[in-house]
Parts: sequence; structure tokens; C-alpha cells
Amino acid sequence: MNKVALNFSDGRTKFIGVNAGETVLDAALRQGITIPVDCREGVCATCKGRCSSGDYQLEYVDEDALSQSDLEQGSVLTCQMRVASDCAIEFGFESTLCTSSGPEELEAVITKIDLVSESAAVVYIDARARGDQLDFLPGQYAHVNVPGTEEWRSYSFACAPNETNQLQFLIRLLPQGVMSDYLRDRAKPGERMKLKAPLGAFYLHQIKRPLIFVAGGTGLAAFLGMLDQLVENPERCDQPITLFYGVTQVADLCEIERIQQFAEKLPNFSYYSIVMKEAAGWQGPVGVVTDLFEDSHFNDGEVDLYLCGPPPMVDAVKGWLDEREMANSAIHYEKFSAS
Ligand SMILES: Cc1cc2nc3c(=O)[nH]c(=O)nc-3n(C[C@H](O)[C@H](O)[C@H](O)COP(=O)(O)OP(=O)(O)OC[C@H]3O[C@@H](n4cnc5c(N)ncnc54)[C@H](O)[C@@H]3O)c2cc1C
Ligand code: FES
Repeated sequence: MNKVALNFSDGRTKFIGVNAGETVLDAALRQGITIPVDCREGVCATCKGRCSSGDYQLEYVDEDALSQSDLEQGSVLTCQMRVASDCAIEFGFESTLCTSSGPEELEAVITKIDLVSESAAVVYIDARARGDQLDFLPGQYAHVNVPGTEEWRSYSFACAPNETNQLQFLIRLLPQGVMSDYLRDRAKPGERMKLKAPLGAFYLHQIKRPLIFVAGGTGLAAFLGMLDQLVENPERCDQPITLFYGVTQVADLCEIERIQQFAEKLPNFSYYSIVMKEAAGWQGPVGVVTDLFEDSHFNDGEVDLYLCGPPPMVDAVKGWLDEREMANSAIHYEKFSAS
């Protein structure tokens, strides 16, 4: 049996024994440490860490979960990791995330479906039947059942937790898709919806440095939740917060009024939007989200970056940062791969 040290971002370390042939995830769960997981198949990267010492093999790693450069830097998926020696693994999340009993199944009711752009809807749901407040960290997500089917999809909460469990998701409407078709063609207020939550290890860590949020498309959802929480608890943040929000075309921009309200309520908050395709009447910048970045936003690399959206956007931003060798900055990300 090999001994593996699990080091969490709050400075705590837990030790587990890993049997020959056992994955690190299975060994941790067997010993009561609930590392956050979703797919268990090497696709979602929820169970990700970085191995700083020891020998190991990874079974399957989807290219959307970890890039070649992630692998070279020692990133691992614990659901796919078998160790060949004692190891140490660093996690970007706190140990408290590993002591809950895991996601629970909830019954909710759709109260409103708001088409906020040509390609996205905000779905409002009422989960007050649960009784107590559902606790989650803004940035985390839920598995949502597509009503009338056996299909489940992942969606980041687009709100902060609240006592009456009035929850929101910001959902991209693909031209064809199980959830997209349901929301466009059949969904009605009053319909029941099942969820499993909370899931994921993307959340706002303790704020000690300027924050940079980068949203691609409906990746904005996670930041709406984080900013809602900061508006409710302004004492948590005395650092500048900059949101960069990129979409494909002007018609995809959404929740701009809500973002403007954050700017009114949070004195340190500023935001920039960019669209990939030119359009009549659009006076803002055209290009990809990294075109908005200037050295002055990055405080000589002393920043905490949060990226959320489609895998190509997350990879492009990480590539941009790698080229500039911002070794002191911390990067947290959530990729919206097909779920
Ligand atoms: C952790 C996590 C959090 C997520 N949070 C959100 C969120 O807050 N808001 C949100 O809109 N989405 C989010 N997603 C993506 C979401 O779960 C679904 O994949 C997406 O909504 C498509 O579902 P669908 O049933 O409409 O399409 P499907 O029936 O699943 O797919 C239809 C077709 O579209 C392709 N496809 C699926 N997803 C995408 C995509 N993202 N881009 C391009 N093509 C795609 C499929 O490969 C398939 O060919 C998240 C994904 C993950 C893993
Ligand atoms: S739970 Fe390990 S990659 Fe999804």
C-alpha cells in the first residue's frame, strides 16, 4: 500500500492509504474524504489536483479536461490516477469541500423562463420544498434533469444561495440539443424539475489580491452568482474586481443591466465586453477576450484569475497567461464541456 498526502488550499493535509490497482479517488472515498466528483470518467476535471511528488499513471484523460501543458505541469485527475509510489497531491480547493455528504437530489418548480438574448435563457426555479437553505458556493453547479427525459445536464448557479431557495441558471440555447429544445419548445412555468447539487470545485476563494473574472458566453453564470454574493457581503472584498466578458455576436450579450448594477453597488468593480463578429450599431471592441487584456490589469502577475466558459476560451486564456509566465497568479477554471 502507498501513502498519499492530500494537501488542500486551506493548508490542511490528509493522508490516505492507496491499495495496488485502486484509484486515488476510490481510496479517498473509502477513507471518508469526499473529493468533489462528477463524471468519474476523466472528462469533467472536477476531481483535478496537481501531483508535486511521486510516480503515477493516469488511465483516461479527455483533452478538454487537461491539456498537454497541464499534464506536463503534473495536473492529475484523481478518478483516473493510480500511484506507483508514495505521492503528494495539491488541490486548488479547501478541505471543507471534502467533508460534506455529497450532492443531494432536489425537487424544484420552474417559475420563469426569460429569453435574455437570441441564444440564452435565464431559468428561474423555486426549490423551497427542500425546507432549509440549500448551501452551495457560487461557481459550483447542479446536475439538472431535462423534464420528461432521462437526460441530465450540468449548469452553474447564476445566483447566490438564499433562504427560500429561489435559484437561477443561465443556459445557452444551442440550435439543437436536449435541454435547449426543451427550454425553447416545451418548458412552462409550473413544471417540475429535478436537480442534484452542489457539484464542482470552482468557487471564489478567500480574496487577498485583485480578482480577474473571464467569462465566455454563458460562462457568465458563475460570475453572476459570485458577484451576487459579494454585493451581499461587501466586507469580503476590498480588492479590484475586473470582469472580461466575450461572446460570439452582439445578439449573444446578456444580463448587461445586471452587470451594470454590480458596478453601481461594488465600487471596485469594472467590466469589459467584446464580440467576435462585427455588427452594425456595435461600438465596442471586436475580437476574442484576450484582446481586452492589458498588462495594467494584471498587477505584475499578483492576481487571482477565474475562467469560466467553453473549453476553447478557457484554453486560449490559459495559453495567453502561459506565454507571459505569470507564475505568481492563481488560476481557477470551469470548462463547459458537453455534459
Ligand atoms: C461543469 C459544467 C457546467 C456547465 N454550466 C453551464 C451553464 O451554466 N450554462 C450553459 O449554458 N451551459 C453549461 N454547461 C454546458 C451544459 O451542461 C450542456 O452541455 C449544454 O447546455 C448543452 O446541452 P443540450 O442538452 O442543449 O445539448 P446536447 O443535447 O447535450 O448536445 C447537442 C449537440 O451540441 C453539442 N454541444 C453540447 N454542448 C455544447 C457546447 N457547450 N458548445 C457547443 N456544442 C455543444 C453536443 O456535442 C451535441 O452535438 C456546463 C457544463 C459543465 C460540464
Ligand atoms: S470526476 Fe474525475 S474527471 Fe470527472
